[in-house]
Amino acid sequence: MARLLLSSVVVGLIVLFSAGFSEARDYLVGGKADAWKIPTSDADSLNHWAQNSRFLIGDSLVWQYDAATDSVLQVTKRDYVTCNTSSPIETYTGGQTKVKLEQYGPHYFISGAQGHCEKGQKLIVVVISDRHHRHIAVSPAPSPAESDGPAAAPAPAPASDARSLSGGLFLTVALGAVLGLIM
Ligand SMILES: *[C@@H]1O[C@H](CO)[C@@H](O)[C@H](O)[C@H]1NC(C)=O
Repeated sequence: MARLLLSSVVVGLIVLFSAGFSEARDYLVGGKADAWKIPTSDADSLNHWAQNSRFLIGDSLVWQYDAATDSVLQVTKRDYVTCNTSSPIETYTGGQTKVKLEQYGPHYFISGAQGHCEKGQKLIVVVISDRHHRHIAVSPAPSPAESDGPAAAPAPAPASDARSLSGGLFLTVALGAVLGLIM
């Protein structure tokens, strides 16, 4: 019985650890070096790339570009839509830019190069979930059309917390029992 309890605890720790502390990732914008440029087609667009990734709080976006001719502007939804570069939230220069995603919801980026945003050099990244929910995220991301600015989107409902906790406990007991039988 002591052994069963011990193995339950060990397995429980492993389950909680792997669910809660999965590593933050760096995403190279566009998936390759020098992708921060005017896209040649729709399929080549940065938003097409972004739609195939799941961005979580703590992940980072990395841009590589020619510092002499380009930059990265983080802007409001309105400025994203109108390609207005006059008052960005943040301006990044230097050819190598790393931005950590710290909030839920959409983040809007446009090129600082004259005329590039209008030709499609722009990016929406939607943060859908924090690390604790990587394996069980249930709430769909709010549509970028629904809110203004990166801070506006609400966090997913806390219901998933209870679900993950009871799920983790169940796993813990089940795996612990199996281990206890084996050992
Ligand atoms: C761009 O944004 C600035 C600041 O919000 C505003 O004053 C300006 O009118 C905008 N320009 C255009 C073309 O919308």
